[in-house]
Amino acid sequence: MSDLVHAAKAIREGRLVAFPTETVYGLGANALDVKAIRKIFEAKGRPLNDPLIVHVCPDWLAEAGNGAATPHPYLEALHRQGIIGVLTEVQQARLTRLITQFWPGPLTLVLPRGERIPLLVTSGGNTVAIRMPQHPLALALIAASGLPIAAPSANRFGHVSPTTAQHVRDDLGERVDVILDGGPTSIGVESTVLNALPDVPIILRHGGVTKEQIEHVLAMPVLDGKPQRESDAAPLPSPGLLERHYAPDAALHILPNFAALLTQWRELTAAGQPVGLLLTRSQASATPDIASAQHYILGETLDDIARNLYAGLRALDSAGAGYILMCALPRLGLGAAIMDRLQRGAVRAN
Ligand code: TXA
Ligand code: MG
Repeated sequence: MSDLVHAAKAIREGRLVAFPTETVYGLGANALDVKAIRKIFEAKGRPLNDPLIVHVCPDWLAEAGNGAATPHPYLEALHRQGIIGVLTEVQQARLTRLITQFWPGPLTLVLPRGERIPLLVTSGGNTVAIRMPQHPLALALIAASGLPIAAPSANRFGHVSPTTAQHVRDDLGERVDVILDGGPTSIGVESTVLNALPDVPIILRHGGVTKEQIEHVLAMPVLDGKPQRESDAAPLPSPGLLERHYAPDAALHILPNFAALLTQWRELTAAGQPVGLLLTRSQASATPDIASAQHYILGETLDDIARNLYAGLRALDSAGAGYILMCALPRLGLGAAIMDRLQRGAVRAN
């Protein structure tokens, strides 16, 4: 039996399958099966009040349809299949634009919950988050199982998300029945979660599709849902405002610029602390004595940094770093998603 056929069978039998998407690896189960969904929460140690994303594919949604039609044929099919509820015409028009532009891809849409989606998936809420991933293995798994697949990132709750199959093994090991290995993921940060149902759409989590791209397609401004610090140099607000998430084991410190990073690196090193640095290639070559430091090179562009960030955090953790230092980035484009993850990874556990 091929890996894919085996994995699809596992989904149909209510077991857990980890699979690659273009963002991070997901921990999947049949979204219509309450027992299977319960296993996801147990395997991750995830609280039941954190809802799951339901992954769908074109194969069982697409019908010959006119690409310009409103509502989008995917919306009609999702509704017919009891996955989503009723939308207003304004919502349909807006969602049609977003789906036409960004599906398959790293945009998760919050939609009214359909009657076939168990409340366990939505944490009791009347909305369901839906995403059509772009990775061929993810799409093939959803198509072969013939089911919508609920999948959070395949990591222990609160930990750094997995971007390789080995990361999934490291975090979840025997708790997963099948792991499909598609190599390292290409985007490296999670999907953007957007609620486009209210008059003014709101980004609930920054991710692979940028705020600027969404505003361009909708031709309107959208809101940021998460609390933000006034500037990246400002101290963290009181604990609790920012949920600790995406966190390495080491203490993660985000410095406003490279000079501040070097100063802190020297101080910690002088105090005998094991420090790891997350650097761009140009930062790594900017100072000769950096070569002697424990460091991980993220690449140069925002795309590189997003793709390599989680692997870098995990590598420095494994190397025994007690502290990980990195420079803040401008919150533009993918920089918003990267800074969001860094900021929440930097919140200390109580
Ligand atoms: O890229 C991704 O989105 C990955 C891959 C596997 O698809 N999945 C992922 O899932 O990151 P997870 O569970 O780690 O994050 C899901 C996010 C959470 O922040 C959750 O609160 C939010 O989506 N979410 C899920 N359902 C929601 C809903 N009905 N309303 C608002 N937010 C929701
Ligand atoms: Mg997650």
